[in-house]
Amino acid sequence: MKSNRQLILGMALIAIGLLGMNTIPGISMGGMMGGPMMMDRDDMKAMMNRMMAGQLPPGIDPRDLPDPKSEGARLLNHYCTQCHNLPGPGMHTAQEWPSVVGRMNQRMQMMGGHGMMGMMMDGIDAPNNSELKTVVKYLQAHAQQPIDTSRYSDLDTPAGQAFQNTCSRCHALPDPRQHTAAEWPAVVERMTRNMQAIAESKSRSR
Ligand code: HEC
Ligand code: HEC
Repeated sequence: MKSNRQLILGMALIAIGLLGMNTIPGISMGGMMGGPMMMDRDDMKAMMNRMMAGQLPPGIDPRDLPDPKSEGARLLNHYCTQCHNLPGPGMHTAQEWPSVVGRMNQRMQMMGGHGMMGMMMDGIDAPNNSELKTVVKYLQAHAQQPIDTSRYSDLDTPAGQAFQNTCSRCHALPDPRQHTAAEWPAVVERMTRNMQAIAESKSRSR
């Protein structure tokens, strides 16, 4: 029975990572064998962060979420922090979000069941259809607004190029019109922290 459980745990871990991914990052089963067989949420998150550094969202403070008291923000907080940090709506455009959430939902449905996988993973909570719609709608309402490059003539200046190189690395190049001049400094400061978080998680995984 024990070795059976190890196998299922390994399969579950591969499955959470494998769905929607083309390659399996260096998963070492050896490291898992000695450890506890049932994982709690925090163990799983920690392991995911080691295995998938750089692919997971850097995480936003719940207080920095737009419209933080809305049902959409509540559901995002509830469902989308089970495996990794809280993803901010600005990570993707309105067009991109449905397929990203679809991929995440596949994982939740698969691991939320009462079968062996669900039990091993300490019961991942999966959203119902109407909750899922609310989450997608919330993410889309506050999504990244991509720039319309034809409206800007100074994108090839040194400053414009620095903006393009820096600000398109993690999401679509943002439309400068989505914030006022007064709002931008705080946003850019948060982006600096996002860059640090990603750099740190990558160096930890090495
Ligand atoms: C069952 C575990 C699990 C849950 C729950 C989960 N995710 Fe993820 N998420 C992952 C894994 C694994 C990755 C890395 C592989 C990938 O991108 O598919 C990831 C990566 C991401 C990324 C970064 C990659 C990208 O395409 O931008 C975003 C954004 C994201 N998740 C959003 C969400 C949202 C929104 C929810 C809630 C609706 C959610 N996740 C719930 C496992 C999960
Ligand atoms: C290291 C990855 C990364 C880089 C590089 C990056 N961002 Fe972001 N950005 C994120 C993530 C993650 C989010 C969602 C979480 C959040 O809002 O902090 C986001 C969200 C946003 C949002 C929507 C949220 C809001 O407050 O309006 C804007 C606008 C934005 N980024 C602008 C920029 C600009 C401008 C740059 C270049 C200076 C930049 N980003 C560079 C990761 C990055």
